[in-house]
Amino acid sequence: MSEATPLAGKHLLLGLSGGIACYKVAELTRLLVKAGATVQVIMTEAAEAFITPVTLQALSNRPVYTSQWDARQDNNMAHINLGREADAMLIAPASADMIAKLAQGRADELLSLTALARPAQRCALLVAPAMNREMWAHPATQRNVAQLVADGAELLGPGTGDQACGEVGDGRMLEPQQLLDRVVAHFQPKLLAGRRVLITAGPTYEAIDPVRGITNRSSGKMGFAIARAAAEAGAQVTLVAGPVHLPTPQGVRRIDVQSARQMLDAVLAETATQDAFVATAAVADWRPADVAEHKIKKNAAPGQAAVPALALTENPDILATVAALPTPPLCVGFAAESQDLLKNARDKLARKRVPLIVANLGPATFGQDDNALLLVDARGQRELSRADKLTLARELVREIAQRLNTPVSPASAS
Ligand code: C5P
Repeated sequence: MSEATPLAGKHLLLGLSGGIACYKVAELTRLLVKAGATVQVIMTEAAEAFITPVTLQALSNRPVYTSQWDARQDNNMAHINLGREADAMLIAPASADMIAKLAQGRADELLSLTALARPAQRCALLVAPAMNREMWAHPATQRNVAQLVADGAELLGPGTGDQACGEVGDGRMLEPQQLLDRVVAHFQPKLLAGRRVLITAGPTYEAIDPVRGITNRSSGKMGFAIARAAAEAGAQVTLVAGPVHLPTPQGVRRIDVQSARQMLDAVLAETATQDAFVATAAVADWRPADVAEHKIKKNAAPGQAAVPALALTENPDILATVAALPTPPLCVGFAAESQDLLKNARDKLARKRVPLIVANLGPATFGQDDNALLLVDARGQRELSRADKLTLARELVREIAQRLNTPVSPASAS
């Protein structure tokens, strides 16, 4: 599976019930198809009031089904045939009425009928609610949603924000890209279900004065990709991020920090409950010994040096600190090197006393969307050849899951 077509080989049923969010489903259909899925659209009569089947047929490349009496099916059982073919069924938007019907097992039109008739063990039901905030908050809707989830449906959203009715609150359908990401996540194996994973990402920023600072080159992309991959694999993920401009992956708890010491504090507050700790952050090795209260002036006063001398002091090593705890989580370190990848990784493995180091050539990957990794442990090394960072992150998640399930005893690791 490549990241360009993460849904290759998947067949999806995409059901639309009535709601203004139907207009977003044109884009969602395009994204699902672009991701490699084949998409069969089903629309209720109410959905047809918002968007035409012609639009969705053109985007999905398949005739849309709107009626349980559709004579195109030889046996006239569209509700059975459509579900049998599908790997998952996504209802977006799911109106309050549609959710109520699904919760009760009612089946008086094709969409709810197909949801009821689909082989539930094989074809999961994903539901993306979209409605006015009062409708969403109503106890009846909340009751119905709870019932749907108890029956095994996966709830996608809703989001919060401006609503077409002019109100602001919970009930917006997730954006098409968010829905695509959730569908992709649905198909990932849940290798880290029930596990907790803590990740550091991005650079740290060490202030010199209120406007200047020392930092490292790091976009945070690799760490964020690992956070996403771990969440997709079912882990509860906490991401401690230095200053980066990246959106938080869905389902990930994010703690923003600036300096190495803040990052250490945030990490130490979490470690006790974690199964794994993945340190991808490019932590500044040093920080100014003193932070000037005001901006240091360029034009030095007479008698002062033209260039200020910067006294530095060492930052704590976050990874080594966690690895030295009495009962540390499984610690995975990163090594961004400019040369001698293997030797530097081996040195780091020993120096930080961690079971696994992931090495990469820094200048070749900084800010890029792809990378190549070398996994180094006490027993050997394994290369993960160049791929996009999310594909590599998923591979690393598999490695971490394997290690969590079959812990290597210290004796055999040395
Ligand atoms: O020592 P070096 O920076 O080369 O080691 C890199 C690994 O150690 C990375 O996993 C990085 O996140 C972690 N590290 C850390 N705290 C530091 C320095 C590095 O956690 N102060």
